[in-house]
Amino acid sequence: MYAKFHSIGAYVPSKVLSNADLEKMVDTSDEWILKRTGISQRRIAKRDEYTSDMATEASKLAIERAGLESSDIDLIICATVTPDYFNMPATACIISDKLGIKNVQAFDISAACSGFVYALSIARAFIESGMKKHVLIIGAEKFSSIVDYTDRSTCILFGDGAGSAVISATEDKEEAFIDVHASADGSYSDFLVTPAPGCVNPVSQQVIEEGLNFVQMKGNETFKLAVKTLTKDVKNILLKNGIKAEDIPHFIPHQANYRIIKAVGDSLKMKEEQVVLTVGKYGNTSAASIPMAINDIYESGRLKKGELMLLDTFGGGLTWASALMPFAGESR
Ligand code: UT7
Repeated sequence: MYAKFHSIGAYVPSKVLSNADLEKMVDTSDEWILKRTGISQRRIAKRDEYTSDMATEASKLAIERAGLESSDIDLIICATVTPDYFNMPATACIISDKLGIKNVQAFDISAACSGFVYALSIARAFIESGMKKHVLIIGAEKFSSIVDYTDRSTCILFGDGAGSAVISATEDKEEAFIDVHASADGSYSDFLVTPAPGCVNPVSQQVIEEGLNFVQMKGNETFKLAVKTLTKDVKNILLKNGIKAEDIPHFIPHQANYRIIKAVGDSLKMKEEQVVLTVGKYGNTSAASIPMAINDIYESGRLKKGELMLLDTFGGGLTWASALMPFAGESR
């Protein structure tokens, strides 16, 4: 039994936070943000619109586009670092309830921006072992809930959104995953961190006063390591599978910063039309960034059945992951 990338869906909140809006909130400028990151705007969920709500909308689309019913799903994996509740229940359980799916295994994983590709690797293993047939994987984030909108070094980067995919069993090797690789190095765990809440810093007056509940990032150090790691990882997966970069129609990197994407794309000698770019309009949506980008090319009719996708991601942990597979859904 093989695993195939069966369908994609995404949800984007309607509220836009533009660079001009941020100019009024912190000491920054549209010019600085555009030049250093390529971001023009990002989407922000409403106060009462949660990670599980965005994930549910994205999942409904993915299930429908796979030609399935909710009841066909036999495993739900939600990748997020901004869950509805930090300890329990898992956001995947809340999503299962909102989708009306009963009695299936549902859990969250935490791999920051690499979460969706980590979830792919888990879904593939469950399917290839014969344990599951249709796995719903989700990358969803309400990142605005952990961003300090007085910190100009982070608040310009992140946005909210969700993307979902159905990974299904197939006997046809032609439509199967080619490879997935996921890894981590915890010695860099202080590069991207939300210090609270957690057992290191349980909620307290001090946590609130010091803003320890907000994301902190060593931006420049993370940038340099991201370029190095993403490039190495993607070159390895191509080499290992005997595929040339020029033969990839859709290179879909994590959407953190245009300069990172450009540096990796250039080192692979990719043409502009091979590289999927959504960071300008959505910012960095962490685990949601890759499925939102896949959905973008799907909805615009650029992603056709059978075309190869190369995914490449990097994030807090530090974690990184890459994947190579054809799109096995119907073209739009
Ligand atoms: O998704 C997970 C992985 N995340 C990433 O890969 C993100 C990686 N990092 C980045 O994208 C970039 O490092 C940033 C966009 C966060 C920052 O860009 P940078 O080119 O690395 O800038 P920097 O941090 O080295 O700061 C350069 C200058 C500093 O001023 P001085 O010390 O040179 O006077 C900052 O204070 O830019 C200043 N600065 C800003 N200026 C205007 C930092 N943020 C801003 C801002 N507006 N928003």
